[in-house]
Amino acid sequence: MKLPHTSLEGKHLPVMIDEVLKICNPKSGEYIMDCTFGAGGYSKEFLKFQSTKVVALDRDNYVIEIANKLRNKFHSRFTFYNEKFSKLDQVSSDKFDAVVFDLGLSSIQLDDLTRGFSFKSKNELNMSMGQTKRSAKEVLNTYSNKDLKEIIKIFGEEEEASKISNNIVKERAKGKINTTDELVKIIKKSKRKNFKKKIDQSTKTFQAIRIFVNQEISELIEGIINATKVLKPGGKLIVISFHSIEDKIVKFYFKNYSKNHSRSNKYLPEKINSLHLFDEYKNKIIRATSKEIKRNPRSRSAKLRVAIRSANKFNDPEELRNKFKYFTDLEKRIA
Ligand SMILES: C[S@@+](CC[C@H](N)C(=O)[O-])C[C@H]1O[C@@H](n2cnc3c(N)ncnc32)[C@H](O)[C@@H]1O
Repeated sequence: MKLPHTSLEGKHLPVMIDEVLKICNPKSGEYIMDCTFGAGGYSKEFLKFQSTKVVALDRDNYVIEIANKLRNKFHSRFTFYNEKFSKLDQVSSDKFDAVVFDLGLSSIQLDDLTRGFSFKSKNELNMSMGQTKRSAKEVLNTYSNKDLKEIIKIFGEEEEASKISNNIVKERAKGKINTTDELVKIIKKSKRKNFKKKIDQSTKTFQAIRIFVNQEISELIEGIINATKVLKPGGKLIVISFHSIEDKIVKFYFKNYSKNHSRSNKYLPEKINSLHLFDEYKNKIIRATSKEIKRNPRSRSAKLRVAIRSANKFNDPEELRNKFKYFTDLEKRIA
């Protein structure tokens, strides 16, 4: 299959790659899993280190061609799976020195206006990163006002969610909402003007619908849990996130399942050592440098966190699933 979109390959600048390389410190023969292949920016850098091996995943079939080029060049040192990272433990039973997630959209996806991610486009509302059950158009035209309001409020952290969902329902009664610019118009009509705000009025609603359509919260939770299973003791789990819900999840997981933060309540006995999935965790966010932000504005909101896998046996982190159940239950309404 020849997809025209690979012409955008060079447009995606890998975010915080120097920091990722410094943490991974790939040595000869190191084994790395790149869970968000995208334009291959990270995988290409890892493969520059002699005899490093990379297993990469991406849910988007638009990137298969880019992956094929790497496979032809590096043969058995590079393997690609067109699969969601929530299933990463099913594609490989090997143990890895590092597992890396660079979340969100690539420029390939955002800049391809036919995919309906960008509120600058006039194309059909799709917003699928690949392997999804419903398009944004189906969600906007068929979900109840209550569901839409909750999705926009919870996943977009949008204060004016109620007005936006009311107007979506009103507009679709007149005729189907088909394109991104139609949605933009509805959002603009619903929101109070605030000229001080730096972000576009549509950003939060678009983010919310995209998260819901792609079930991004459930993907992240299952992805980082399964990454923990495939890491060697001492292996690094690196996550770069771009919005506050993602970062809250990663922070909670790393903090609560690391050696130094085992007690969720100081009056309860300390959990037995065998439950620590990670070694000491510093609870530190690493940010892009101002030089990188200038060159690549997308890196401005990037937050990198890293945890080191302990030698303990894997135990299912039930508290993580419970803590964010509200989000994952909401995402289940896509079914
Ligand atoms: C920000 S881009 C990664 C860019 C890459 N690091 C680079 O430098 O080229 C994120 C990629 O992750 C993919 N992705 C997002 N969620 C995913 C999931 N749940 N499973 C697999 N791939 C996913 C997207 O399709 C997108 O291609």
